[in-house]
Amino acid sequence: MISRKSVDEVINAAVIEEVVGDYIALKKRGANLLGRCPFHDEKTPSFTVSPTKGIYKCFGCGKAGNSVSFLMEHDSLSFADAIRKLASKYHITLEEDTLVNREEYDEQQKKRESLLVALDFANKYFIDQLHNSDEGRVVGDTYFRERGFTKQTIDEFQLGYSPQGWTSLVDAAKAHQFNLTHFADAGLIKKREDESYFDLFRHRVIFPIHDLTGKVIAFGGRQLVKDDKSPKYLNSPETDVYHKSNVLYGIFQSKKAIKTLNNCFLVEGYTDVITLHQSDVKNVVASSGTSLTEGQIKLIKRFTDNVTVLYDGDAAGIKASLRGIDLLLEQGLNVRTVSFPEGEDPDSYCKHLGPVEFKKYLQEQEKDFILFKTDLLMEGVGNDPIRKTEVVKNLLTSISLIPDALKRAAYARECSRLMDTDEKLLLVEINKLRKNKNALDQQPIPQEIQEILHTKTELPPQELYSGGDEQEMNLIRLLIQSGHKKFMEDATVADFVFKELKEDDALKIVNPVYQKVLDEITAIMEHELDFNEQFFVNHEDAEIRKMAADFLTEQHELSSAWSDNGIIVKTEKENYVQDLQSLFLFLKKSKLEQLIKANLEELQQAEEDEKRNFCLHYHIQLTEVRNMISEMLGTVVN
Ligand code: UTP
Ligand code: MN
Repeated sequence: MISRKSVDEVINAAVIEEVVGDYIALKKRGANLLGRCPFHDEKTPSFTVSPTKGIYKCFGCGKAGNSVSFLMEHDSLSFADAIRKLASKYHITLEEDTLVNREEYDEQQKKRESLLVALDFANKYFIDQLHNSDEGRVVGDTYFRERGFTKQTIDEFQLGYSPQGWTSLVDAAKAHQFNLTHFADAGLIKKREDESYFDLFRHRVIFPIHDLTGKVIAFGGRQLVKDDKSPKYLNSPETDVYHKSNVLYGIFQSKKAIKTLNNCFLVEGYTDVITLHQSDVKNVVASSGTSLTEGQIKLIKRFTDNVTVLYDGDAAGIKASLRGIDLLLEQGLNVRTVSFPEGEDPDSYCKHLGPVEFKKYLQEQEKDFILFKTDLLMEGVGNDPIRKTEVVKNLLTSISLIPDALKRAAYARECSRLMDTDEKLLLVEINKLRKNKNALDQQPIPQEIQEILHTKTELPPQELYSGGDEQEMNLIRLLIQSGHKKFMEDATVADFVFKELKEDDALKIVNPVYQKVLDEITAIMEHELDFNEQFFVNHEDAEIRKMAADFLTEQHELSSAWSDNGIIVKTEKENYVQDLQSLFLFLKKSKLEQLIKANLEELQQAEEDEKRNFCLHYHIQLTEVRNMISEMLGTVVN
């Protein structure tokens, strides 16, 4: 009884290499990944996973499918249970309403395929019209050439032309014996009262919209001459294959460059994407005139964490896009902006400057969002204290959305410099704003603590980061005693611990025996077995046996660090939340202290300025988080 929408959401979120990677080891092989097939015995790997297509195929036994079918097959799950498993992996809350069973899903899948077939036919038809009809050549091709698009660009973006007549596409589809209802469902044609059909895209140049894998899922059609009676661009409606809020124009052509360059330019229009591409700025996508959505941002995040928003040079455009900046910040992206002179958009300005100068312009004009917003909001404000305060509040609201605590601190500093306001005061305000926001989502570990635990620590070379530590022992101990117990709705204590350990490299367990225990527990959990100290006391590995025995003896029951701090580990407590959150805070604090110590030694020995600067910078970073934790421990632990 999972809603269609939720099923789609899960399928879109599932990353095949991650799903399969939970079960078998995969190695990169060209664009694909290769591993040993879990469905039949084999010595040489022939199980292939294609990340771009979202599918797997075994060339040995022939099994193939997507993330959902993999789980159904591998874990013998029903369709709904496979979806549920994926939903929990990707933290998606499922809407349970209309009944979706396998048959219904297959039915809808068939419908979607029919839509795609109609869209594909229309796409080929429009392309053919552009190149091979007199009207297309004279009207459409001339239009594109006047806009400066080369043949190569026209081909790469599969641009097309829809003729002036009322039934060109209808007639072509009929001639190929297509069922016209699919064309109507795809928003390409419409039924008249007399049951006959007519084309919706007429006398327009056509921009097909592709999904990530290159399938055409919708069209935008631009009018050739200005006519206020119809819209400049006519776009396909929402359909079963086209959900506007999850689509970015140009993502198929740009995703590779976005990943390689680790940055994504975000523009508004179809022609902006195309002109920039042609000018060798290939990491660019468009929100297509709508305001940016969370789904679109998630799409970008699959390829990079860095976004540069390119604004049209008109006030309305810029105002509308400020909300977009906030959304990007909220999703943890690093945001920079470039704006253009009044009346210009990236397309027109790129043509105006030429590719070389345009690229230079992008580099020179790129501003961090905070500077961009400050400049924008401070226009005409002068020294008016009230208006200045409003600007500061506005800036702080944006900063407070950033998930990473260190980045927020850095922006508070920047804001204090730009606005000449006390930094501490700004931080207090930011925290207030965050508290209000977080009061809404209840989590077992408070947001502030999660943030600190999830603040990434740069790690020095391996040799500096070693040595077992008492906090590690406390964690392993708790894991052994209570790991299999329920912690949250659908996670055990162990699930939680493993998840948290992954959040920051600094939390890594370095003691080799403890690491062995972690591996053991992972294996046990995979088989959904129970475990306790007895399991480890009787373990075949002598080191593990000794460790478990140590844990059972009296003097080890409390570690000195805990008792020194007046904290008692009550492992049999009903509620492990407090234990776990303080445990992780102590773990991170002690890890940071090790790092601070090692780094200071390094600093004392450093001779070159560069090295000293690095160590100093690192020291500040480490102590900042360490101090936050110390402060927090005063309040968390009781
Ligand atoms: P613009 O009006 O800025 O158009 O709309 P543009 O991209 O610069 O196009 P040209 O250069 O005039 O050809 C930006 C985007 O907003 C959407 C389109 O996606 C367009 O690319 N839009 C605009 C519509 O969907 N419908 C419209 O009527 C206008
Ligand atoms: Mn334009």
